[in-house]
Amino acid sequence: MNLLQVNDISHSYGSRKFFDWKGNSSKKVLENVSFTIDEGTCFGMLGSSGAGKSTLGKVILGLEQPLSGKVLFQGHDFYTADKHIRHKIRRELQVVFQDSYSSVNPRLTAERIIAEPLENYEKLTIAEQKRTVIHLLERVGLSETDMKKYPHQFSGGQLQRINIARAISLKPKLIVLDESVSSLDMLNKNLILDLLMELKEEYGLSYFFITHDIKAAYTISDTLGILDKGKLVEFYDSKSQFFSSEHHVVKEMRDSILAEHPRNRSIRIKYETT
Ligand SMILES: Nc1ncnc2c1ncn2[C@@H]1O[C@H](COP(=O)(O)OP(=O)(O)OP(=O)(O)O)[C@@H](O)[C@H]1O
Ligand SMILES: [Mg+2]
Repeated sequence: MNLLQVNDISHSYGSRKFFDWKGNSSKKVLENVSFTIDEGTCFGMLGSSGAGKSTLGKVILGLEQPLSGKVLFQGHDFYTADKHIRHKIRRELQVVFQDSYSSVNPRLTAERIIAEPLENYEKLTIAEQKRTVIHLLERVGLSETDMKKYPHQFSGGQLQRINIARAISLKPKLIVLDESVSSLDMLNKNLILDLLMELKEEYGLSYFFITHDIKAAYTISDTLGILDKGKLVEFYDSKSQFFSSEHHVVKEMRDSILAEHPRNRSIRIKYETT
């Protein structure tokens, strides 16, 4: 079943029209983008820097109203829906950004950070809320002893786990993951990707996984798309379709990984092979 339908979205910043008063066209950041995300699946959105990926994420989250087109979440258009539906959509759509530190208030403990959405949406007793926070901390691989710690006492990977715990606290339907693993080292990146895949199964989550990391996208995604200069130039229903793609953006990304392999380097460094 379609959870999210993105229908013919176009957007540009700074002007409500694509042409300014002199008749010059303002640059389109998104151009006629359409795709769907099914319930329980991950759509990987690949594209180079400036392609419009984060803008598309903001449009989906209801943070940036598109100039034209519609986003339907469970059949509802956030911008025309009534207050009650908007409230429900806000609850069921969550986000995790790249920079785990700037996504949290440095003055709040992990407990307060994770409890924030619960305080806004659920009427839990203090004891119930505490139990829920402990459960969430444990679910993302942290523990009760981390509750009273502040953001500066965590590593980037641990803090990203706290951001994920906060995002899943209300059992949302869709999480926009905007470069959520991009600033992590290889080991932490793989651990967080494993955690995201487990949570997806357990909670029946869907992801809009924004990245320029072809390996991460390939690992986690069920369907994939390439955004190039604001246009969705490719859509792949399966990983095998994506793997054999001859599109230049995919080829460039694939080559950039292959170039990392020692065999493909002109200068071999001794420690790389040991
Ligand atoms: N708030 C804004 N106001 C004006 N222009 C913006 C704004 N946000 C983004 N842009 C412009 O829109 C274009 C797309 O930006 P966007 O952040 O969506 O790209 P991206 O694909 O997420 O890039 P990256 O991989 O570097 O994060 C860029 O040219 C950018 O400068
Ligand atoms: Mg971005």
